[in-house]
Amino acid sequence: MKNLEDMSRRRFVTISGKAGLTTLVASAVGINFGIVRVAEAAMGKVTPFRFAILTDAHLFSIPDHKFDGFLADAVDDVMAMKPLPDFVVYCGDIAQNGKDDQLQKGKKILSKLTMPIHFIPGEHDWYLDMGAAWRGHFGKPTWSFDHKGVHFIGMNSILVRDFWTPAGMTPKQRMDTMEMLESPIAGPWGVREEQLDWLKKDVSKLGADTPVVVFTHSPLWDYYPRWNFQTEDAPEIRSILAKFERVMSFHGHVHQTVYNRIGNLSSVGTLSTSWPWPYPDVKIAYPDMRMYSSDPGNFKDGEGAQHIDLEADFNGTMHYDPFGDMLTPAMKNGFKI
Ligand SMILES: [Fe+2]
Ligand SMILES: [Fe+2]
Repeated sequence: MKNLEDMSRRRFVTISGKAGLTTLVASAVGINFGIVRVAEAAMGKVTPFRFAILTDAHLFSIPDHKFDGFLADAVDDVMAMKPLPDFVVYCGDIAQNGKDDQLQKGKKILSKLTMPIHFIPGEHDWYLDMGAAWRGHFGKPTWSFDHKGVHFIGMNSILVRDFWTPAGMTPKQRMDTMEMLESPIAGPWGVREEQLDWLKKDVSKLGADTPVVVFTHSPLWDYYPRWNFQTEDAPEIRSILAKFERVMSFHGHVHQTVYNRIGNLSSVGTLSTSWPWPYPDVKIAYPDMRMYSSDPGNFKDGEGAQHIDLEADFNGTMHYDPFGDMLTPAMKNGFKI
């Protein structure tokens, strides 16, 4: 048991990038997977596996829009993986304006994936009809499941207080307001009481050594609140999950590589398939995670997908799979946290 505990502290995770056909694998130490149960994989309880993340396709109601092709390319990239991921998580913003045809188009493109796919919503999916169409297509926005010894959780982090009723807004005006990167009136996002209560119950029976992976649309830390690169009640989420040795969180919304760790919870930003946001002009905790500014001559630079390999030798590998040549020095050369 001592050995197992020692090995569980190794916490090796690799960040790597892929440029065209070249895969560059670089070492990074310290990103915080729930390693203990993964360690048990080596004891025969769990087998290694891979999962992939696609996010932020922002599909418009325009036939054959370029973003349709970008999402389709990402789907093809996932289906070309060897081995295939056990499942895919879609981290929000399938639609640009919350319209049913946009959601349907995304569902159709993603239907080419042969593995299970789990969805959480983004603000662009939700505020035209308060998630009615999204739920019709993709089910509950709050869920959890266990897979090969790891506990996976998805939550809706884009809930805001009602600003539209006092303002007398139409559904379209509400959607237009929430689409803005900097909205003067929408207020901060969060998962809110109901999901916090659900989360408390969901994890109540899990042992502290259970590896936990959480998906939200917005980051579970105050990255840049002005652009809603945050979740207002993330401190409560972190507090509920504090009993676990390690918690890994993945989020969409920021359309860029970014990493942070607070306590036992690591947080990793994912590449969108649509466009890369510029980095906000703030200091970030792990600046080496920044990708280069995307190349304006490469129309798909700074976009892509990602996959994560959890391995029986206690290593977790996070691969960014950019469409273009975007790679940070950190991704090329490795970095230590
Ligand atoms: Fe987005
Ligand atoms: Fe978003």
